[in-house]
Amino acid sequence: MRIGMLVDRIRAEEKLLIRELERRSHVNVELIYHQDLIFRPEDAERWRRLDAVFDRSVSHSRALTALGFFESLGVATVNSSAVTRLCGDKVATSLALSRAGVPQPRYRVAAHGESALAAMSELGFPVVLKPAVGSWGRLLARVGDRDAAEAILEHKATLGGPQHGIFYIQEHVEKPGRDLRAFVVGGRTLCAIERSSEHWITNTARGGRASVRPVDEDLGVLCRAAARAVGGGMVAVDVFESERGLLVNEVNSTMEFRNSIEPTGVDIPARMIDYVIATAQGAIETREASELLPSPPPLFVSPSPVSPSPVSPSPVSPSRAPSVSVSSAQDVEMPTAPTAPTAPTAPTVEVEVPVPC
Ligand SMILES: Nc1ncnc2c1ncn2[C@@H]1O[C@H](COP(=O)(O)OP(=O)(O)O)[C@@H](O)[C@H]1O
Ligand SMILES: [Mg+2]
Repeated sequence: MRIGMLVDRIRAEEKLLIRELERRSHVNVELIYHQDLIFRPEDAERWRRLDAVFDRSVSHSRALTALGFFESLGVATVNSSAVTRLCGDKVATSLALSRAGVPQPRYRVAAHGESALAAMSELGFPVVLKPAVGSWGRLLARVGDRDAAEAILEHKATLGGPQHGIFYIQEHVEKPGRDLRAFVVGGRTLCAIERSSEHWITNTARGGRASVRPVDEDLGVLCRAAARAVGGGMVAVDVFESERGLLVNEVNSTMEFRNSIEPTGVDIPARMIDYVIATAQGAIETREASELLPSPPPLFVSPSPVSPSPVSPSPVSPSRAPSVSVSSAQDVEMPTAPTAPTAPTAPTVEVEVPVPC
């Protein structure tokens, strides 16, 4: 089995995932670096030999372009471009959650400074203003009153780039000094953590401390519903505890999990690789989420001057990392499905994974 891992850099998470793949028999991994990747129509047959592409890109726009390319060739992807697109855009995520009836903080979207100000007043201060595309708690603003709102909107109008022209605004949720993050893989809520901080932004990238949060019925059901709303796959769901009960803040499609393995005791990378392998075997068909998408997929533009020289079949830069050959067997509770077909044909199944927390 051949699995392509799409990366722009190898972080702690990717190291853990590669190590996990090394423990599986009959799996070969190709590290596909965006830095080296040129899409050529002539390469189609070479790429079709991959049974699945596992996206671990940091860059959202690069991921979308590359996933769209592989999907156009019929190569299975994890997560799909549809899931990635929805999760990467907070406006699109909220629309998908609304459509699925999943509880979330009250929100407004505006595309003009004046309507943004009106939307903030309508929600009632304090509100939280976020870039539609972003992560790690960057460029979030808790806006306490109308004066602060006017100042930040004027700054954005003067200094901001195009991504600051769309205003995604949420009510500020009074949290009990923490929020929750749950990991959902193949329709199962694997485990969850609490992220605690003195700061209102609790991302571990901003100093939030992780501790285990047992997955009860409410949390498990909510997170599965949130994952389903964005099209399934493997996602990390951010949840707030509020007076109105649990609310889904956002859904992340390229899960960061290194701080969550130890507190939860769950081998998250192993469960992720189970899912990737099941996808590559054609046992999992990611639900098509395109009907949820507010915008069409990005167009694939083939590189202009195509090299007259024969296409190099190696997407792996030897200077960065070799292909990983995987050697040892491992017991996994995965559906047995025929290997090889690139387009999933078997019926959709949910991955059975142990849930120790
Ligand atoms: N509406 C809100 N009310 C209270 N806290 C919030 C709100 N939105 C975000 N936060 C805090 O900021 C963190 C980062 O926000 P989030 O929407 O997840 O953006 P990012 O994609 O940058 O992680 C959340 O985990 C939470 O701690
Ligand atoms: Mg977040």
